[in-house]
Amino acid sequence: MARYEIIGGKPLTGSVTVSGAKNAAVAILPAALLVAGTCRIENVPDISDVRILLDILEGMGAKISREETNVVQIDCTHITSTNPNPMLVRKMRASYYLMGALLGRFGRADVALPGGCNFASRPIDQHIKGFLALGAEVDETEDYVSMEPGPNGLNGNRISLDMASVGATANIMLAEVLIPGQTVIENAAKEPHIVDLANFLNTMGARISGAGTDTVKIRGVEALTGGAYAIIPDQIEAGTYMAAAAATGGNVLVCNVIPKHMERISSKLQEMGAEVTEYDDAIRVKTTQRLRHTTVKTRPYPGFPTDMQAQLCVCMALSSGVSRLTESVYETRFFGYCTELASMGADILINGKTAIVTGKESLQGATVYAHDLRAGAALVIAGLAAEGTTRVENIHFIERGYENLVQKLTGLGANIRRVED
Ligand code: EPU
Repeated sequence: MARYEIIGGKPLTGSVTVSGAKNAAVAILPAALLVAGTCRIENVPDISDVRILLDILEGMGAKISREETNVVQIDCTHITSTNPNPMLVRKMRASYYLMGALLGRFGRADVALPGGCNFASRPIDQHIKGFLALGAEVDETEDYVSMEPGPNGLNGNRISLDMASVGATANIMLAEVLIPGQTVIENAAKEPHIVDLANFLNTMGARISGAGTDTVKIRGVEALTGGAYAIIPDQIEAGTYMAAAAATGGNVLVCNVIPKHMERISSKLQEMGAEVTEYDDAIRVKTTQRLRHTTVKTRPYPGFPTDMQAQLCVCMALSSGVSRLTESVYETRFFGYCTELASMGADILINGKTAIVTGKESLQGATVYAHDLRAGAALVIAGLAAEGTTRVENIHFIERGYENLVQKLTGLGANIRRVED
């Protein structure tokens, strides 16, 4: 068991470099299954979700080597199994992308249902709807999804998603790139990692257009060949350091960001009184006075991301006045951290989809438990801002998605260490 011990109350200062985007990496690595050739993928974050995926792919016959920590070469020319190790698949959420990738490359897949952060009910009915529309026969049990081509084989189709699901949009793209015909995904998700996946696949020879809009078109091609690709910077990791700078009254230059992806986060922090300065590929967040209250509603991209809800809540908990934070993607997401923040002195009242946060002058250190990745990141920010010592337990959740968190925060002057029992 490991935990973070944080002695808080010190403003973060200096610069920090953001890693490659987790949610792009966890889609792009399974996408390599579609490529008969070598993919050289740069800017791959060294996080536990990525390590698990690489183990899964290796177990299926992929040849994997690392040139350096963040550069991975994957050759999936000789895949020997369409049944990835269920124990590993259940360790993470994004293993559902193996379904689309295997269906697309081999016309069949036997994949355990995914595990990962369970902060809400996270069905995959829209993914299955997409696979069925492409002509797959799907056998879904309580813990497995098996697919093979239906009587008319696999063909492109028009699919209208009931909600703009990131996972379903990406999974249908993966399934379609190698099958005949054209697929049109309507009400597609527009998140930056959807665009990154499309760019990766197009670099390897796919024909995808419209990624980043609500209509994505994919025309099947005969084969994908290898190539080189660099993953975009992580929008949520960047936002987490921006929120940490604001909550601690710090002055931090967050480097390796795409400022366009950060617009909603930047504007909310500005509204709360932080000075936010954009550069070509960096953003400075400087706070010289107590933050002001605000109102936020999470929405799919380009709205304020649900994955920044918890981190912004910490800023609200320290601001002057009463803030309102409404969640519209995952209603139960507050439960992962609000009680923990309350044990540090935060005043948060949950009323259905809205948290009403009455700001306090300070938070106090406590022992708190991460219940999922972003909830855990928020507890770290709270610990950095709080008076006294905070112990954050269950940090395996946090290490699923943040590369070198302790080193990066230490570089900003934080007093944080990772302690193993
Ligand atoms: N939904 C369904 N049916 C489906 C798919 C989704 O009802 O088949 C619902 C979900 O329950 C949710 C909404 O649609 O209410 C959106 O879910 P989405 O499919 O977009 O989420 P996801 O693909 O499971 C990804 C990210 C999450 C992020 C969400 C929303 C990955 C691997 N995960 O999840 O990231 O919160 O999109 O942006 O890309 C994180 O990084 O901490 C994280 C949880």
